[in-house]
Amino acid sequence: MALIDMRYVQSDDSKICVVMVGLPARGKSLISGKAMRYLGWVGVPARVFNVGSYRRNNTPQPAANFFDPHNEEGERMRRAAAEAALDDMISWFNAGKGVVAILDATNSTKKRRQWIYEKCSEANIETLFVESICDDEDLIMTNILEVKTTSPDYKGQDPELAALDFRNRIRNYEKVYETIDDGEKHYTYVKLINVGSTVIINQIKDYLSSRLVYYIQNLHIKPRSIWLSRHGESEYNLTGRIGGDSNISERGEAYARALPELLRKSGIPPNTKIVIWTSTLRRTIQTARHLKAETGFEKLEWKALDELDSGVCDGLTYEQIAEKYPEDFAARDEDKYNYRYRGGESYRDVVIRLEPIIMELERSENVIIVTHQAVLRCIYAYFMNVPQEQSPWMEVPLHTLIKLTPRAYGTDEERFKADIPAVSTWRGKGSSARHQDYTAANPKSPEQEAPSEAPAEAKEEK
Ligand SMILES: *[C@@H]1O[C@H](CO)[C@@H](O)[C@H](O)[C@H]1NC(C)=O
Ligand SMILES: *[C@@H]1O[C@H](CO)[C@@H](O)[C@H](O)[C@H]1NC(C)=O
Ligand SMILES: *[C@@H]1O[C@H](CO)[C@@H](O)[C@H](O)[C@H]1NC(C)=O
Repeated sequence: MALIDMRYVQSDDSKICVVMVGLPARGKSLISGKAMRYLGWVGVPARVFNVGSYRRNNTPQPAANFFDPHNEEGERMRRAAAEAALDDMISWFNAGKGVVAILDATNSTKKRRQWIYEKCSEANIETLFVESICDDEDLIMTNILEVKTTSPDYKGQDPELAALDFRNRIRNYEKVYETIDDGEKHYTYVKLINVGSTVIINQIKDYLSSRLVYYIQNLHIKPRSIWLSRHGESEYNLTGRIGGDSNISERGEAYARALPELLRKSGIPPNTKIVIWTSTLRRTIQTARHLKAETGFEKLEWKALDELDSGVCDGLTYEQIAEKYPEDFAARDEDKYNYRYRGGESYRDVVIRLEPIIMELERSENVIIVTHQAVLRCIYAYFMNVPQEQSPWMEVPLHTLIKLTPRAYGTDEERFKADIPAVSTWRGKGSSARHQDYTAANPKSPEQEAPSEAPAEAKEEK
């Protein structure tokens, strides 16, 4: 699929309401949350309206019989919650900023779909129904376990009782559930059967919807983790130069040798296959080389994972950049996300070239990615939902392995630090361009020094 900067494809009147359809424990909240993060990451304003959380305002921890279709009080409250969610969604669109709203609701009847479709049409909003159908008992059970341990509905409750209650709740929904059928061919919809093993797509009309559908069809909900690491300290890092294609330093090599053990220590379930991704630059390939040797895992080199291209500044230090291109240095601090190096790239450019990586990552299971600071910040921002203006300033230390585990309600993060010193390559906004010198007279890395060491003295990579 062609990569186009999403800011340029939004016409003034394109508003889409993505309506999740499916029984509980079919991964709807996971798909909603991911779609929202993805859209935000590519620059499309999106928000999830979760009917369950509106209902929770009135009935924080309902018992399963609340969801019985014959329970009138329950029925009234659930209907009120759906209406409140839809009204808020329409006001959000009318306020002018929204482009995609995701309605995460459980009641899946034809009548309810028609009601949503009509309300949206009146407000000039396109609807895209996304139905998740799943009859794989193992997958459903995994999902139930996930929900009962992470859903606000069951906070502080006995997990066994919660699971039982949740299964009863699902039975109540099953009584009224209606799948999208041939009578609804006039709707735009996607049906995902057993999480992407079969996908049926009907009537996709615009570019943004097709992008979104392409993204959603790549998702799976099998448990997995993604590990992220920067390359080991490079020779350029010792002198504070940016870019280039240098070798790793001696300490970088020590990190490369420590990486397989660090990965093991982070916790790998038995019989787990982990694929190794690096950029095409020496420092990442060298950092990952022992992983390959020790584990025999499959290894891929991606050009799209290469470091942000610093154009004319490639090979210079920050002091030299501040001296030669003072306006650029200041402009970059002003809006680092959009600042593009002369003849090089901006963070926004990196996000656009990383999109196929994200798609591939969604399709994959366990992956360890060894890459560069700017690239890693962009990938991390996608998983952890970091806003664009913050992501370029995030600190991603050298010689540290980050383990991300996607869950139904967000992503868990753990960090494992190798006990191998490195120059700090982080520079705070507006700080000086002075390089943290790294000589025999100053053998400690800034990270190990007393807290009085101002981080502003440290340097950043990109
Ligand atoms: C679902 O929606 C339909 C139609 O709006 C309604 O009649 C039904 O009671 C609702 N059921 C649940 C479980 O919310
Ligand atoms: C670390 O080295 C790499 C090149 O090997 C470079 O891209 C990065 O900017 C360097 N960081 C610092 C602070 O020198
Ligand atoms: C990196 O190391 C190799 C082998 O030691 C050497 O041949 C090469 O010149 C080095 N490259 C750089 C850019 O220093």
